[in-house]
Amino acid sequence: MEKVLELKKVHKTFEVGTPNENHVLKGIDLTIHQGDFVTIIGGNGAGKSTLLNIIAGNFPVDEGTISLKGQEVTKKKMEARSKEIGRVFQDPRTGTATGLTIEENLALALRRGKHKRLFKMGIRKTEKEFFKEQLKRLELNLENRLKSEVGLLSGGQRQALTLLMATLVTPQLLLLDEHTAALDPKTSASVLALTNQVVAESQLTTFMITHNMEDALKYGNRLIMLHDGKIVVDVAREEKADLSVSDLLTLFHKNSGESLTDDSLLLA
Ligand SMILES: Nc1ncnc2c1ncn2[C@@H]1O[C@H](COP(=O)(O)OP(=O)(O)OP(=O)(O)O)[C@@H](O)[C@H]1O
Ligand SMILES: [Mg+2]
Repeated sequence: MEKVLELKKVHKTFEVGTPNENHVLKGIDLTIHQGDFVTIIGGNGAGKSTLLNIIAGNFPVDEGTISLKGQEVTKKKMEARSKEIGRVFQDPRTGTATGLTIEENLALALRRGKHKRLFKMGIRKTEKEFFKEQLKRLELNLENRLKSEVGLLSGGQRQALTLLMATLVTPQLLLLDEHTAALDPKTSASVLALTNQVVAESQLTTFMITHNMEDALKYGNRLIMLHDGKIVVDVAREEKADLSVSDLLTLFHKNSGESLTDDSLLLA
């Protein structure tokens, strides 16, 4: 199975040499294969977002290496990695450009990683047809609102659109950072179901952070728990399919030597 992502002994410390020095990632070793859908859980400040940020290249690591599709990208800037990586964040306002229309946002997504000159070109008729087809998949009637400004959409609609944008050009890796946490439970469930559908259809290699242990167990084929900058639980396939939330807590306790209440993860 092809390796899509490989982290070797990755360390990240913030605010080095100050009283706030914070060793956030403590020697992460992780290999993700083509088509894996990995869910990540862990308490506040465990280092989950930092892990996604160093993969995307938001900031450099202090030690260790990161490879994407067999190519080392440790020193490569975020822009150089963005062509391979699709991302959806927690805040529905971050993934889309508020003042632009749905079709303009999709056109930007289609031109991701391409030369800036292309942004000046108009949107072709064939592209509009393609956008409509894609929007239909969301089942939110957005295919009839190509010229609506994205700022007018609800949080759930925006996250669904962001997910579509992040996957419009098939990414090597899809990074989801609690992308349904700001939505109400019903909308969150529907965006998660849509995520699962998109991931399955395009067999996307996916990394999804969630605070919800049930969702972490329900979706994906591998589950990782981060604690204090280290991977303390890593279960895959059959083993994951048979796990319950209480099994997870037991595993956490066994591997970290600490106890954790369900609530401290779910309500954090
Ligand atoms: N850019 C940064 N500069 C300084 N410190 C940072 C930065 N990003 C994260 N941190 C710190 O690193 C630690 C881990 O943060 P991170 O956002 O990775 O946690 P998390 O597991 O995603 O938590 P949450 O569940 O609350 O989102 C925190 O103490 C945080 O304050
Ligand atoms: Mg986070």
